[in-house]
Amino acid sequence: MSSYGSRHPLDDPHAGAKQTAVPEGAKVTVPAVRAAKGTRTPLVMTTAYDAATARIADSAGVEVILVGDSLGMVVLGRDSTLGVSIDEMVHHTAAVASQRPRALVVGDMPFLSYHVSIEDTVRNAGRLVVEGGAECVKIEGGRKRLRMIGALLDAEIPVMGHLGLTPQSVNAMGGFRVQGKVRKQAEELLADAAALAEAGVFAMVLEGVPAELAELITADVGVPTIGIGAGPHCDGQVLVIHDLLGLTDGHVPKFVRCYADLGALAVDAVGRYADDVRSGAFPAADESYRLPSDVAAALGASPMPAGTTEN
Ligand code: KIV
Repeated sequence: MSSYGSRHPLDDPHAGAKQTAVPEGAKVTVPAVRAAKGTRTPLVMTTAYDAATARIADSAGVEVILVGDSLGMVVLGRDSTLGVSIDEMVHHTAAVASQRPRALVVGDMPFLSYHVSIEDTVRNAGRLVVEGGAECVKIEGGRKRLRMIGALLDAEIPVMGHLGLTPQSVNAMGGFRVQGKVRKQAEELLADAAALAEAGVFAMVLEGVPAELAELITADVGVPTIGIGAGPHCDGQVLVIHDLLGLTDGHVPKFVRCYADLGALAVDAVGRYADDVRSGAFPAADESYRLPSDVAAALGASPMPAGTTEN
């Protein structure tokens, strides 16, 4: 059995009782997420991009909501995350934060918002916090980001790291490819993870890395790892909410599990609405506002059908 096996529900004598990585009820904070390292129950994170998805995620009890720059692909319909601007991220982060979720709200820093200068990095992260209401930010990359991480922490902005298949590096990687399959790359990732933890990130996403490597990194670093396409041994898991709800069009990666087919449900619902409009079945009398009968009579308007109340 691996060193993480005991965390799995099948090995857990209390399996069945609902357990959470952060005590239920209280607002989830950065220290609470950091303290979840090594707890038996994995952290749960999903993305959200607006008030509706934030309410869904928070009502379901996830601990962390990431306003991801996956926004560019799943909400804005682009081919990559590269064109997402800091203005767009602030706009959508504010929509999520407007719901005052119990979950920790992480604002994702988009491409080029933390690459140019330290001043730029802190100002952009500050916008996510001040204008967007994020409680911390996430940035992609390893040791080359240490200066920026230090500056953000100096500005009291907690940072979540992100290693492995970092989508903002799609051009450098030559596509969306699993990272760390060759020894040198795996060693680089181990070194990056250690450096991020040492620098003070409170958690890190591991995306698109082999499960064995994610297990090694998780054992090595003192902060929670949150996996996506990184196997079962991380301290938490994250999925894009559109993917898990069945709202994604086209290719869905093999690491995604679809828990609903809301896309099909929605097409069916809108189709039935269209049928009702075309047949005249919608709106019904009870779905319409009416004139008071004296006003209707004075205007010569058609009388209310029997049983309809004025409102
Ligand atoms: O932007 C995003 O949604 C992400 C997650 C996939 C981790 O970075």
